[in-house]
Amino acid sequence: MISDEYLRNLTSFPDVRVLFCADLVPERAKAQAARYGVPGAGSAAQAAEHPDVELVVNLTIPAAHAEVGRQAVAAGKSVWNEKPLALDTAAGRGLLAAAARAGVRVGCAPDTVLGAGLQTARRLIDGGAIGEPQSALTLMQDPGPERWHHDPEFLFRPGAGPLFDIGPYYLSMLATLFGPADQVAALGRRSQHSRVIGSGPRAGTKFEAEVPTHVAALIAATLLLSFDSPLRRHGFVEITGTEATLSLPDPNRFDGEIRVRPMGRDAWETIPAAGATASRGLGVLDMARSIRAGTAHRASGELALHVLDTMEAVARSITAGTFERVPTTFETPDALPADWDPWAATIV
Ligand SMILES: NC(=O)c1ccc[n+]([C@@H]2O[C@H](COP(=O)([O-])OP(=O)(O)OC[C@H]3O[C@@H](n4cnc5c(N)ncnc54)[C@H](O)[C@@H]3O)[C@@H](O)[C@H]2O)c1
Repeated sequence: MISDEYLRNLTSFPDVRVLFCADLVPERAKAQAARYGVPGAGSAAQAAEHPDVELVVNLTIPAAHAEVGRQAVAAGKSVWNEKPLALDTAAGRGLLAAAARAGVRVGCAPDTVLGAGLQTARRLIDGGAIGEPQSALTLMQDPGPERWHHDPEFLFRPGAGPLFDIGPYYLSMLATLFGPADQVAALGRRSQHSRVIGSGPRAGTKFEAEVPTHVAALIAATLLLSFDSPLRRHGFVEITGTEATLSLPDPNRFDGEIRVRPMGRDAWETIPAAGATASRGLGVLDMARSIRAGTAHRASGELALHVLDTMEAVARSITAGTFERVPTTFETPDALPADWDPWAATIV
């Protein structure tokens, strides 16, 4: 499902060339290659071994992220994984260690943190617009993705659920704005064990939810992530600072307006977002440009490992009923310049 957005963008950026499409189901790879004018199609192993491929974009299901990533790294290729980085931090650490040994890079979704909305918010916060950031409140409530996804079972298994599937957008944003988390506490529940596929050829098929479908977590922020809500409310994010409150766009989007409400005012001031709105693929492009420039790429494997570690600590807290530590850390990436242009040709 998500390969369309990546392929549409990556085939339009002058700084990258898409050489090969791969899938477990060869017809799917062939169909996408034909649709986007990609010269080759076949298996993930063939993609990794392709002599001209430098970076593998891994859009498989979470259970395959680490294995497909390791295969690319073993062939000497950098890898971009869709989120989450891996099913657990042990596998994520293993992927990062293998990449470091092979001298290649790991990048990871979400790249919404590089979008105009969140980058503008970041520049405002860095510039002191809200004083010292203190806390955040985020809400994502949804009836569940089985209504629209044709193969939604993986979204209710370990590696997904609202925490691991949607959590990365909110947690990557919070990590980028607040720095690493150090401890978390959370409650989780499942309102229904059995879910029903709502669309596509398998509509009406029942399956079991294996993970919590409603999660309330405390980090520096208060987060609600739910697939059990009749009300659909996505992307509520408020950052409270010492001088003002900032209302952010949906961290699962690349654009959106930002609003600021200084202490003592009873109205919001709207600030337009400036930056890239090209959607998924921006992180891959930043990685490709950074490889050529020899600089650090922004949506890094280390940031994704910390986000995964935070989600695992949330899951542990739900089971144990205790506060849990988050041991990993990362370097906060540089903000993107407001005039960063995905369609400029910067690589000669
Ligand atoms: N669908 C969305 O809106 C969306 C949005 C953002 C991110 N994502 C992420 O993108 C990833 C893929 O999601 P999707 O919705 O596109 O799933 P999907 O089920 O539509 O596609 C996944 C594809 O991966 C293939 N695959 C599975 N294991 C493989 C392996 N070992 N080697 C090669 N191919 C393999 C499957 O055959 C399938 O074609 C997930 O990590 C998901 O979290 C999805």
